[in-house]
Amino acid sequence: MSRDPLLQPYQLKHLTIKNRIMLTSHEPSYAEDGMPKERYRAYHEERAKAGIGLTMTAGSAAVSKDSPPAFNNILVYKDEVVPWLRQLSDACHEHGAAVMIQITHLGRRSHWSNGDWLPLLSPSHERETAHRGFPKQMEDWDIDRIINDYADAAERIQAAGLDGIELEAYGHLIDQFWSLRTNTLEAPYGGDLKNRMQFSLDVLAAIRKRVGDEFIVGVRFTADEKTEGGLTEEDGLGVARTLKSTGHVDFLNVIRGHIDTDPGLTDVIPVQGMPSAPHLDFAGKIRKEIGLPTFHAARIPDVPTARHAIAEGLLDMVGMTRAHMADPHIVRKIIENREDDIRPCVGATYCLDRIYGGAPALCIHNAATGRELKMPHEIETAPSQKKIVIVGAGPAGLEAARVAAERGHKVHILEAAPHAGGQIRLAAQSTRKKEMISIIDWRLEQCEALGVTIDYNCWAEPENVTDLNPDVVIIATGGMPNTERLVDGNHLVYSTWDIISGDIKPGSNVLLFDDAGDHAAMQAAEIIAQSGAHVEIMTPDRTFAPDVMGMNLVPYMRALQDKDVRFTVTYRLLSASKEGNALKAIIGTDYSDHVEERVFDQIIVNHGTLPLDELYFDLKPLSKNLGAVDYDALTEGYVQPEGQNADGFFHLYRIGDAVSSRNTHAAIYDALRLMKDM
Ligand SMILES: Cc1cc2nc3c(=O)[nH]c(=O)nc-3n(C[C@H](O)[C@H](O)[C@H](O)COP(=O)(O)O)c2cc1C
Ligand code: SF4
Repeated sequence: MSRDPLLQPYQLKHLTIKNRIMLTSHEPSYAEDGMPKERYRAYHEERAKAGIGLTMTAGSAAVSKDSPPAFNNILVYKDEVVPWLRQLSDACHEHGAAVMIQITHLGRRSHWSNGDWLPLLSPSHERETAHRGFPKQMEDWDIDRIINDYADAAERIQAAGLDGIELEAYGHLIDQFWSLRTNTLEAPYGGDLKNRMQFSLDVLAAIRKRVGDEFIVGVRFTADEKTEGGLTEEDGLGVARTLKSTGHVDFLNVIRGHIDTDPGLTDVIPVQGMPSAPHLDFAGKIRKEIGLPTFHAARIPDVPTARHAIAEGLLDMVGMTRAHMADPHIVRKIIENREDDIRPCVGATYCLDRIYGGAPALCIHNAATGRELKMPHEIETAPSQKKIVIVGAGPAGLEAARVAAERGHKVHILEAAPHAGGQIRLAAQSTRKKEMISIIDWRLEQCEALGVTIDYNCWAEPENVTDLNPDVVIIATGGMPNTERLVDGNHLVYSTWDIISGDIKPGSNVLLFDDAGDHAAMQAAEIIAQSGAHVEIMTPDRTFAPDVMGMNLVPYMRALQDKDVRFTVTYRLLSASKEGNALKAIIGTDYSDHVEERVFDQIIVNHGTLPLDELYFDLKPLSKNLGAVDYDALTEGYVQPEGQNADGFFHLYRIGDAVSSRNTHAAIYDALRLMKDM
C-alpha cells in the first residue's frame, strides 16, 4: 500500500473514494442536444480509467428550463438525461471512480436568447456583466417552481446511479440570493443573511426529502466574494455554518471570489503567470473552522502542491481539473512513479476561454482531450518501423516527433535555430507567459527518452533531407511575420516579433497596427507600454484582440490600463512614409472613404505569418504523394494513401504554420492526427 497522501482512500459517508484527487465540475461543452452522449462519456471514462478518485461531472447542469445553457450545459430538467447519465456513471464506476454531478440554476448568469428564449431571472434586476442578460426579478411562483426543479433533478440523478450531487453557489442563483449585490427582494427571501439563505435551505430540504439521507449532497460555494458590497469572509463562514447546521450537506467545495466579470472569474480560476494555489490556505481555513469534508480547486496544476494540500490537512479532496485536461493519466503516472512524464498544464486557459466563446473545450497542447473517440492519449506501436525526418522543432515538429517515436519509428529532426521552440519560445520571453515553454520542454524530454535525434543549427536544404534516406518527411518549418500589408512604406515598419524578441527597441510614440487580433499584438503592446512609450493599438476589426479571449485578456489589460495606451477600433493603416525623423501614417477605414494622416516615430504591423515553405516545394517533386494529404484519411483516422508519383522516394507532408498561420493547438493537432496512423 502506497504511503503517498494523495493515494489514500477517503471515506465520505458510505462512499469510499479510492484516492484524494478529483476533477471538479467543469462543463467542457461536449453535450449534444443537452445530453452527455458518447463524447462526454469518453472524456470522463479516460480519466476514470487512469485512476481519478472522483469525477464531478458536468458543470452547471441546468435544473430548470429558464436556466438557459450558457455554455452548452447538460439539461438535467429533462427525463431523457437519465439513461445518458447512467451510461456515463456505469462506465466510470467500472474503473473504480466515484461519480457525481454539479447541478444549478444559473439565474442571471446566461442570456435570454439561449435555449427556449425564456426571460432570465434573479432576486434583483441587476445584470451580470459577463453574460450581459438583464433578468426579471423573481416572483413567488418562480421560487416554488425552481425549488421543486432542484428536487426533481436530484431524483433523476439518483435514478441514474451517480454517487451524489453538488449545488453550484458562486455566481449562480443560489448565491445570487445570498449576496446583497444581487438580492433586492423583501422577506422571506430577502433582507438579512438568514432570509437570503432561505432559498438555499428550502432547496436542500426539498432535495433531501426526495433523495433520502444516504445520497451525497454537497455545495460548491463562494466563502468570500472579495468585492465591494459582496459576501465577506465572515458572511462566508456564517453561510457554511448554516449549511452545516441543516444536516443536509455532506461536503463543501470552497471558492473564493466572484465570477460576474472576466477579471473576477480570472481571480477565481487563475491563468498562467498568476500565482499557483492562491486560495488553498483559505480553503484550509474553512475546513478547520467548519469541520465538513472540504474540496477545492484553483490552479493546483502540479502533484507536489496537490500532495501538500492533502498532507497538511488543508483539503480532503484536491481538484486538479485543467491538469487532467492536459494529462488525463496523472493518477496512473503517480502510481507508476512516473510523475516526470506528466504533460504539464501551462495555465494557458485556452480550454475555458473556448467555452465562453461558444466552442467545446480543448487543451492548447493535448489535442486528444475532448476528442477521445478519435484521438489517442496513448500511442500504439506501428506495424513496421519507418525512418522519419522532421524539419523544424517548434510545437508541430516536436509533437510529430514525439508521436512518431512512440509509434516506434526512427526519428531525426533538423532545426535551423540553436534551440527548439519556434513561436512558443518567443511567447515565453514574457515573464507572465514563461510557463508556455513547458509545451516544448515536455516534448523535448519525451523525445530524448524515445531516442529522437535532433540536429540544431541546421538550415535544411533538400539534400540534407534526402541524404538521410527517409520514408517520410514532415515539414514543420513554421512561418515568418507577414508585414507586407501596406500600399506603400512596408520597408519602414517592424513586426511584433521584432519587439517581443528584443531585436528592436520600442520607439516613444508607437502605432501598433493589429490586423490579426492575436496574442502577439497584445504581448508586443505590453512590452512597448512598459518601456514608457505611448502606444496606439489600431485594428480594422469591431473589437480589439478578437482572438485573445476573455480570461486571457485580463492580464494584458491589467498590464496596459495604467500605461499610456490607446485602443482604436475600425481603422486601418494604409501606408507609411518618412517625414523628417518621424513616420507619417495614412489611416483609412473599411466603413467609409474617410482618410487621415497621423505622425508616429515607430510603426509595428501584426498580420500573422507567411509559411516558410521553400523546402517543401523543393522536395515536392521527389515525393510519392507530391505533398498531398488525403483529408478523409486524416479526419477519419486511417493511413494516408501511397501517392501517385511512382518515381517518388518518400512521403511528404507539411504541418502547422508551414501550411498557414494558425495557433498552437492547430499545429499540435495537425501533428497528432497525421502521425498517429503513420
Ligand atoms: C472548461 C472548464 C469549464 C468549467 N466549468 C465549470 C462549471 O460549470 N462549474 C464550476 O463550478 N466550475 C467550472 N470550472 C472550474 C473548475 O471546476 C475549476 O474550479 C477550475 O478549473 C480551477 O481548477 P484547476 O486549476 O484545477 O483547473 C470549469 C473549468 C474549466 C476548465
Ligand atoms: S489549455 Fe492550458 S490551462 Fe487548459 S488544460 Fe491545456 S494547458 Fe491547461
